[in-house]
Amino acid sequence: MKKQSTTREIRVRIDSRYEFIDLVQELADQLCRAAGLGRPAVLNVGLAVREAVANAIKHGNRQEAGKWVEIVFRLDPGRIVIAVRDQGAGFDLAKQKDPLEPENVFRSNGRGIFFIRSFVDDVTFTRRKGGGTEVRMEKRVMSRRSGRAAPRRTAMRQGGEVR
Ligand SMILES: Nc1ncnc2c1ncn2[C@@H]1O[C@H](COP(=O)(O)OP(=O)(O)OP(=O)(O)O)[C@@H](O)[C@H]1O
Ligand SMILES: [Mg+2]
Repeated sequence: MKKQSTTREIRVRIDSRYEFIDLVQELADQLCRAAGLGRPAVLNVGLAVREAVANAIKHGNRQEAGKWVEIVFRLDPGRIVIAVRDQGAGFDLAKQKDPLEPENVFRSNGRGIFFIRSFVDDVTFTRRKGGGTEVRMEKRVMSRRSGRAAPRRTAMRQGGEVR
């Protein structure tokens, strides 16, 4: 008999409209709860997803409503992986301002990526083949006995899929 996969995947595509961000966050909340994350982690992932989708709409697709943002939620045993993809021109992560530098602390923007990094365990920004950005965020779901999550990583890669 064929072995049943324990991975579950949900894929949604929205037009590039801010009004859909609440809907995506709601979906993230429900899926994180279903995956077994505790309340603080659920809130953190929801905020990370919000920031990534807002960036995809604003900076990636430049609010062109005809361009889509795709959000893939994957529930694996022990982790939830969320990918946010846009149809924009991509960007250079290394060139972004560090919001912790003294000259940037009073800026009213430029904190989204910093928040995303703080709120999930692992973040990867990838230039998608054929254009656009993929932000892959991973949150580990700890069983009661497994203790702390592993350290965070952030990287920029070329062309990738949800791993
Ligand atoms: N999906 C994306 N496509 C293109 N550029 C992006 C994308 N995401 C982020 N960026 C670039 O990275 C910069 C930093 O993003 P970040 O979310 O940290 O700050 P912000 O969006 O400018 O402000 P804030 O999120 O605090 O309102 C953006 O200003 C933009 O230049
Ligand atoms: Mg932002």
